[in-house]
Amino acid sequence: MEFDLVVRNGTVVTASDRTDCDVGIRDGKIVALMKGLPKAPREIDAAGRLVLPGGVEAHCHIEQSSSLGIQTSDDFESGSISAAFGGNTTIMPFAAQHKGQSLLDVVADYEARAAAKSVIDYSYHLIVSDANEDVLHNQLPKLIKKGLTSFKVYTTYELLKLDDYQILEVLSVARREGALVMVHAENHDMIRWLTKRLLDAGHKEPKYHGISHSRIAEGEATNRAISLSELVDQPLLVVHVSCQQATEAIRDAQSKGLKIYGETCPQYLFLTVDDLDRQGMEGAMFCCSPPPRDASSQEAIWTGIQNGTFQIVSSDHAPYRFDETAKLQAGPDAPFNKIANGIPGIELRMPLLFSEGVCKGRIDLHRFVELTSTNAARLYGLFPRKGTISVGADADLAIWDPDVKYTVSWDDLHDNVGYTPYAGMELTGWPTTVINRGRVVVDQGQLNASPGDGTFVPREHSDLAKPRGTLVREVDPARNFGAKIL
Ligand code: URP
Ligand code: ZN
Ligand code: ZN
Ligand code: ZN
Repeated sequence: MEFDLVVRNGTVVTASDRTDCDVGIRDGKIVALMKGLPKAPREIDAAGRLVLPGGVEAHCHIEQSSSLGIQTSDDFESGSISAAFGGNTTIMPFAAQHKGQSLLDVVADYEARAAAKSVIDYSYHLIVSDANEDVLHNQLPKLIKKGLTSFKVYTTYELLKLDDYQILEVLSVARREGALVMVHAENHDMIRWLTKRLLDAGHKEPKYHGISHSRIAEGEATNRAISLSELVDQPLLVVHVSCQQATEAIRDAQSKGLKIYGETCPQYLFLTVDDLDRQGMEGAMFCCSPPPRDASSQEAIWTGIQNGTFQIVSSDHAPYRFDETAKLQAGPDAPFNKIANGIPGIELRMPLLFSEGVCKGRIDLHRFVELTSTNAARLYGLFPRKGTISVGADADLAIWDPDVKYTVSWDDLHDNVGYTPYAGMELTGWPTTVINRGRVVVDQGQLNASPGDGTFVPREHSDLAKPRGTLVREVDPARNFGAKIL
């Protein structure tokens, strides 16, 4: 058998297996996994290193107009390069509809920009903010058929939020067409009410962002979103979970057998609201929604990672430069509610979890692979093409040096943000070589790809997005006196 590339002598680790073997690659696919493969034109020696599936970064905001209408500072070039250096081979950002826009137009525009610039493979989720008849019954079904089989809805942000009725409509469309709905769950009116009280009392510094976006607001909206999902028997993924209240709501729903999934992010493991309490506006660097909480919330999130409440850890990379072009668009004295929401993290997502999770014994390597790659591929209809190392899968690999030690500094990162919230952390382990469909995109720390080298990956309907088929009485014609509702 002939190969284009052989990765030799590494330890291959997937969500379920660990094997010392070579990886034979031809035409962008993995075609052999065994020791002693014959010589290929290109060889990579992975002795002493771990060969893991490339990361699937399933929550990032790239070249997107945000919740406050501000453009993120990473485009598909810098965003995908930064992702690749952090061990990812697929990114899944958001094509975001704002009210009044056609989702079809938004997607066409997004697609053109991604195709021209991404250095690694990509797909994207849709953000549905205008759930009108045409979007629900014409545009969404068309886009799902094109392989865009997931969409995010918001319960907060004036420009994006849907009411409960509209979320039920979106869930029903997802149920009929086979798509996964993701929800940003925070109670809008609680945030609005707290914000007004805080500002009226003269509290405008960034740290009050962390107070206004209350944990109670997140817990309430999470419970409510789960109830909406239960009513229509359609699975739901609660994204960027930050606190115990929301974690418990998800856990309880899972115990009842509901198909409720959870995602968390590094900011809820490594940052707290005290990071927002800095000199002047510096706390703005840590303003994201939901905000980082406290030490006991961090523990609750780690527990949720360990006991399976969370299926994925994503970055929620929402990059804004710390200046008036982006993060502080409302000026250097902006009140907390005018600061762009979001923090960077696409390059450090996996290194942070590797170092603090695997190296410190909180999770094992298989769970790390699951959380950063396999489960995202499964949830979003990319598995087994992505998310694992098996014969027939895309040759998407990250070769990790598990022993290298370093201190985090933005100078070593590749995004266009200008700072990292994790500066100064001492970490162990880095993905030194990253391969996407057989192309060595990062070669021993050097970029070896051009904008546009990545390709769009259409996604299948995910099994995890299928309804349970267990209807509550109110929608079950056998028990609701014959009314057909779903
Ligand atoms: O603060 C955040 N997370 N900004 C990004 C937008 C979102 O809600 O995911
Ligand atoms: Zn279909
Ligand atoms: Zn969100
Ligand atoms: Zn987000």
